[in-house]
Amino acid sequence: MKLLEDRIAFVTGGASGIGHAAALAFMRQGAWVAIADNNSEAARQVTSELESAGGKAMAITLDVTDADAVNMAVDQVVGEWGGIDCAFNNAGIALEDTTTPWGDHAIYDRVVSINQRGVLNCMTAELKHMAAAGKGAIVNTASIAGVAGTPTAAYCASKHAVVGLTRSAALQYAAAGIRINAVCPGAIETPLLAESMKDPESARIISSMHPMNRLGQPHEVADAVIFLCSEWASFVTGHMLAVDGGYLAR
Ligand SMILES: NC(=O)c1ccc[n+]([C@@H]2O[C@H](COP(=O)([O-])OP(=O)(O)OC[C@H]3O[C@@H](n4cnc5c(N)ncnc54)[C@H](O)[C@@H]3O)[C@@H](O)[C@H]2O)c1
Repeated sequence: MKLLEDRIAFVTGGASGIGHAAALAFMRQGAWVAIADNNSEAARQVTSELESAGGKAMAITLDVTDADAVNMAVDQVVGEWGGIDCAFNNAGIALEDTTTPWGDHAIYDRVVSINQRGVLNCMTAELKHMAAAGKGAIVNTASIAGVAGTPTAAYCASKHAVVGLTRSAALQYAAAGIRINAVCPGAIETPLLAESMKDPESARIISSMHPMNRLGQPHEVADAVIFLCSEWASFVTGHMLAVDGGYLAR
């Protein structure tokens, strides 16, 4: 049985990495998938990939920092497909590395505008429709850096904010029939990590920070997202689901 037959799913950052894996997983579970990303070409490629596999998909070019554009994108999905059942607010960046000085305002503002404000923009647009329908499930991508400290201040602060936004919205919308959760991935093998993984010694260190002593794969996060969007999680809201090989258990 498919878990999300004919549900309508909106996935930001769906053109790469975790979002791409989630788009595929939504499709395999029977959902129609809107892939919203600021990389138009890659979003179109993922849409073609889903359609070639027999799925129903649409590509939307979107910068999540633009609240009006986000509203229009969600309205477009609801207008064309008749509603929005699941949203995976996942677009994000990680600009810092070990050489980034503390208090770099330009980096801080950029990271927060996408990772934090982007999630707020998306939830605002999605909740408008979900509240009217009296149902829906939202999953935000936080991180282990949303729960534990990391030396990357902007990223860490932005992901702690995603945790706060998720919990707050979950409380505000629990009685309205909308469940809102987050996934907290550990290091996952995606283009976001590619730079840090080039050096074998850094790759070994990053892997060894996870008790399972490896990186996670994008599909392992996608599976958690599907669970949280499905009826199997019908009494789960305001939860931060770690997908981290044990990182946060230490
Ligand atoms: N890879 C990891 O180790 C890891 C760990 C924890 C959390 N995360 C989080 O997972 C999410 C996905 O990351 P990923 O690893 O798949 O990275 P990725 O770089 O492979 O994918 C990110 C996607 O988001 C899109 N994007 C970036 N800025 C955008 C914007 N302003 N508007 C719309 N789309 C935008 C990119 O075009 C890209 O398609 C991010 O929120 C990231 O912080 C990743």
